[in-house]
Amino acid sequence: MHVLIGKQSSKQVKSPLNYIGGKFRLLDQVLPLFPKQIDTFVDLFAGGCNIGLNVKAEKIICNDNLKFLIEMYQQFQGNNLNTILEHIDNQINKFNLSLTNEEGYKKLREYYNTHKNALDLFVLIAFSFNHQIRFNNSHEFNNPFGRERSSFNDTMKSNLIYFIRKIQSINVKFTCFDFDKFDLSGLTSTDFVYCDPPYLITTGTYNDGKRGFTGWNEIQEHKLLHLLDSLQQRNIKFALSNVLEHKGKANKSLQDWLSKNDFLHINYIQTNYANSNYQTLVRDKDASVEVLVTNYEPERVKSNLSLF
Ligand SMILES: C[S@@+](CC[C@H](N)C(=O)[O-])C[C@H]1O[C@@H](n2cnc3c(N)ncnc32)[C@H](O)[C@@H]1O
Repeated sequence: MHVLIGKQSSKQVKSPLNYIGGKFRLLDQVLPLFPKQIDTFVDLFAGGCNIGLNVKAEKIICNDNLKFLIEMYQQFQGNNLNTILEHIDNQINKFNLSLTNEEGYKKLREYYNTHKNALDLFVLIAFSFNHQIRFNNSHEFNNPFGRERSSFNDTMKSNLIYFIRKIQSINVKFTCFDFDKFDLSGLTSTDFVYCDPPYLITTGTYNDGKRGFTGWNEIQEHKLLHLLDSLQQRNIKFALSNVLEHKGKANKSLQDWLSKNDFLHINYIQTNYANSNYQTLVRDKDASVEVLVTNYEPERVKSNLSLF
């Protein structure tokens, strides 16, 4: 018997996945910088969908090239909430999953790698180390057991319930394309494209081309900047999340692109340096300089409420 939590319409939806590079904690800074009216919103690198599902738009498209992830979202969309929760409970009971039963976890992992049921992937993630998604090069899930730490706990369950309810109550479509194969040709000036790619100068699980993720390198970065240039030429608004500096490294390609194009606006995002400002950030050689680059001047900035 599942206890369903009451409607949570005004609250932001948090991904039930502990997604590396997930933007949930930055939502309050990022969303006010988006255009107020959006017809179609494209989250081209949706990951945990922390941004895509919290944007107000007529139509939302969440895209990611990680097939297993998109299949899981499609299952969340196409199945009744209670059926999904029952499936999760049944698998937990069948494999006797707990904070300590590593054997049960390994059996479910083997079962998933044979059958690839997208809902079983969620159960695996619930009990895996740091709740993370990790595949080997043969596309087998290989994240180790999250002993004494990971389970399908109440927080994860409640995040999942809100997440599924949101998916089922809005006009959202999940697609699985490499960003440069995604068809943007139908978009017009009332649509909006958000890009949160892997960052060239930081290390996410999906950066090195291993563990089932496509790699991210200078070539991909240039292709993406080129794609953004073509959106600008078509008068389509976009925003790009990225870091300009990280632990003493600078993203030169991005900096060059920014200095060449005066239609771009750099909006600085405050990360975990709660009491610092941009001036102290740039002086700290280990600090990350996180930005949201837009090809329009955000309302918030216009009204003189800049972040720093
Ligand atoms: C920084 S994460 C996005 C996090 C997301 N904004 C959130 O808040 O949960 C980047 C995502 O890009 C995806 N990705 C990497 N290379 C890609 C490509 N070539 N095309 C589409 N998606 C890609 C990864 O699978 C990963 O999910």
